[in-house]
Amino acid sequence: MKTIKLSSFTIETIEEACSDFQYKEDELINVLHRCQQKLGYLPAEVQEIIAQKLNMSVAKVYGVVSFYSFFSMTPHGKHPISICMGTACYVRGAEKLVDEFKRQLRIDVGETTKDGDFSLSCLRCVGACGLAPIVMVGDKVYGRVSVKQVKDIISEYQKGIN
Ligand code: FES
Repeated sequence: MKTIKLSSFTIETIEEACSDFQYKEDELINVLHRCQQKLGYLPAEVQEIIAQKLNMSVAKVYGVVSFYSFFSMTPHGKHPISICMGTACYVRGAEKLVDEFKRQLRIDVGETTKDGDFSLSCLRCVGACGLAPIVMVGDKVYGRVSVKQVKDIISEYQKGIN
């Protein structure tokens, strides 16, 4: 049998989340949300325990985690970069921004740079459509971002300005 090495805090967090939602399979999304909130991300080992506790297959848990962009299987970087892919942002070129961030950071969406400094993810509409396309770095919002600005945004954080 596979040995899962998780801290007792992680195991307690999962247990508490499953128990709060009465170990119901229907509550999977809420359980995952709670665990991600407390643990920061949802690695395979965490998904396995959740599957055991909710008495469902790991494949089903994995399916949900990978379907929703707000769930992450990798730890976020020190500066998590999120690009809005809602309709207004998409129409105004968000996809090109994603490509440029991927190119500059040499990571894919959902990944973190090797030095742990940056991670890349996509979001649904963040409610600032008038400023589309939107990029967020942590809590800071950048509006009307152009492909040319991508490099500047990254270097702001590389220089430790923020
Ligand atoms: S679509 Fe990006 S903020 Fe609304």
